[in-house]
Amino acid sequence: MTLDTGMGNELGRDEIAAMRRSYGEAGIDGLAEDPFVAFSQWLVEAHENPLIVEANAMVLTTLDHEGRLSTRTVLLKDISKNGFTFFTNYTSRKGVALHGQPQVTLLFPWYAMERQVSINGDAEKISREESEEYFATRPWGSQIGAWASRQSAPLASRDELQERWDGAAAKWPEGTSVPTPPHWGGYRVIPRDIEFWQGRYSRLHDRLRYERRLTQAPEEMKWEITRYYP
Ligand SMILES: Cc1cc2nc3c(=O)[nH]c(=O)nc-3n(C[C@H](O)[C@H](O)[C@H](O)COP(=O)(O)O)c2cc1C
Repeated sequence: MTLDTGMGNELGRDEIAAMRRSYGEAGIDGLAEDPFVAFSQWLVEAHENPLIVEANAMVLTTLDHEGRLSTRTVLLKDISKNGFTFFTNYTSRKGVALHGQPQVTLLFPWYAMERQVSINGDAEKISREESEEYFATRPWGSQIGAWASRQSAPLASRDELQERWDGAAAKWPEGTSVPTPPHWGGYRVIPRDIEFWQGRYSRLHDRLRYERRLTQAPEEMKWEITRYYP
């Protein structure tokens, strides 16, 4: 089978099958006992690596009330209060899915470092104040964009979106304070488990999973670390 792009370049099945890399010698060493500390350490390393763009980009998968999965990238904007925070439109497809069905997965694919971090947990809305605090730090154009976009709704034309943006920009000109849209805000993902994966030679990769143990106080997190076969 050949995948012809119609543009004069093509990929044969053998070429796809042969796409693979050998991974490095270095394993996971000395990772902190607190997975948030360990994650922060890896995030800094990914951020400092010139081969990785948008180290804070993560793939978020949600499940809606009819059992349908959907997935997309969002940006991690905070790691605090025992969770991973991102911002979005509460009426978007993901927002609707998260209404009453909080289970999510997060994946940080840092391929250039032969690393991934995968997280399972529950998403909860953050407080209005926290969303407003972050919204105020966004560039003006993004703030106007949050008013203009009815994220995930069908859009008849690009012009319609531009008109909505122009309308919002006229209402709150650059330099004025743009209020946080009621349909926009953050979610915090409270992890149940966090797995760190490091590619190694001969597919003998390192996998360390931090699993949360139930404690009396839900805000207190205790973790058990298990190594898994690759
Ligand atoms: C690198 C990257 C970062 C993104 N960051 C966000 C984000 O932080 N929040 C967001 O709502 N959408 C973000 N998006 C767009 C989403 O992937 C998605 O298209 C949008 O949120 C609509 O998703 P939904 O219809 O499944 O709700 C990002 C896309 C990319 C490629």
